[in-house]
Amino acid sequence: MSTVAVVGAQWGDEGKGKVVDLLAEQADVVVRYQGGNNAGHTLVWGDLKFVLHLCPSGVLHAGTLCVIGAGVVIDPLVLWEEIVRLRKAGYLRREGDLKISSRAHVILPYHRILDVGREEYLGEGRIGTTGRGIGPAYEDKVGRVGIPFADFVDRKRLEARITANLKAKNVILKQLLGRDELRAADLLRQLWPAARRLRPFMADTSLIVHRAAKARRNILFEGAQGTMLDVDHGTYPFVTSSTTLAGGVCAGCGLGPRQIGRILGISKAYTTRVGSGPFPTELKDEIGKRLGEVGREFGATTGRPRRCGWLDGVALRYAARLNGFTDMAITKLDVMNGFPEVKICVAYKWKSSLLREFPDDTRILEQCRPVYRSMKGWSVAGLERIRSLKRLPQTMRDFLRRVEDHSEARVALVSVGPDRDDTILLRPLF
Ligand code: GDP
Ligand code: IMO
Ligand code: MG
Repeated sequence: MSTVAVVGAQWGDEGKGKVVDLLAEQADVVVRYQGGNNAGHTLVWGDLKFVLHLCPSGVLHAGTLCVIGAGVVIDPLVLWEEIVRLRKAGYLRREGDLKISSRAHVILPYHRILDVGREEYLGEGRIGTTGRGIGPAYEDKVGRVGIPFADFVDRKRLEARITANLKAKNVILKQLLGRDELRAADLLRQLWPAARRLRPFMADTSLIVHRAAKARRNILFEGAQGTMLDVDHGTYPFVTSSTTLAGGVCAGCGLGPRQIGRILGISKAYTTRVGSGPFPTELKDEIGKRLGEVGREFGATTGRPRRCGWLDGVALRYAARLNGFTDMAITKLDVMNGFPEVKICVAYKWKSSLLREFPDDTRILEQCRPVYRSMKGWSVAGLERIRSLKRLPQTMRDFLRRVEDHSEARVALVSVGPDRDDTILLRPLF
């Protein structure tokens, strides 16, 4: 079975876009299975740079089918804009290059307003969401008042759904958030052109992916966000609203668990986080600043500066437990090039206890202090041009060995720069 799930092992932005773009060279199908345009996946290849929010990161490879599965929430206006942008650059030329699940739910303007409004309302306690309407759209789906793509592209059904939903939404908008009420006719006028344009892409994507798996095609499942943002097992409530774990692949695609072959966890050589919530290894000093500057740690979706800190081995071990990684990809090793010393958190100090396992209560995590193992750093000229493990200094290889210990998986890929080619592939994944 040649299927690989690519899953973020941290708080997102680990470099999933780069890795998927690289592996997509050998993939017949690339599937996004959860999240929405809260994701920002960066693809760099020579002078080309794309930040993708909804289209799978296989789009640059002709002949690779891109699929948006049922578990994704789609902002139709953003998706259409992304398709136009890609087409202008010569990609996604044929309608058959992209398939959108008829079951994927749609993000409407009121979801965005509610997301932003609720954050304002929460004040200091805000989640720090991307403001893209992700939470409210998933709430409606689970609350059974959402709008599946099949309803979205049928004008009568769309009108009926919007009209029914606005009754409740307008009460919240007006009375709780003090906003103007919305009118169904205005929303329809705004959305219908995108619905018409996107309709030809609609398909039964579960069937497409199932048939591809049966035919033993190479399939990549592209995760969005990361393990620690998972709605069930992440740092709740500072999480996103979907299942970001490898387990989410099946539900999000409409595929059985036996179809998942390898599970590639992606981690930076350090840690970043955007938005609020506990982050035990966060560095508010010069080192944190340097990681942010050298690593250009600004959100690919919102442009917010990312919080930076050392690699958290406790969180990585937790991520390994939740996902069952078979392989690891480590990115951004170049960013720590020249650091005399690097650190990995190996345990947490909580009150008078030493915790080796990630606490199952966010309140406890908030009070944890990191316990570090210090290691010698590395300084390599032309690091981004190195293509073999043997040419990496021993200190870097020691660091990778530690990552393997924490993740209980072999490192299969090492990334030493943003470009697709700045990569050391240790083992084939397909
Ligand atoms: P994603 O959301 O997981 O796809 O990651 P993002 O695209 O949001 O953030 C990762 C950032 O790091 C992007 O700007 C990438 O171009 C960049 N990047 C990825 N791998 C490397 C690497 O190995 N070194 C450096 N310097 N940058 C990298
Ligand atoms: P990619 O796929 C990093 C964070 C937000 C916020 C929390 C909830 O690029 O790795 P949401 O808008 O989802 O309700 O916000 O989750 N978040 C991400 N952080 N990378 C992402 O995606 C993220 N998607 C959401 O910053 O803390
Ligand atoms: Mg990102």
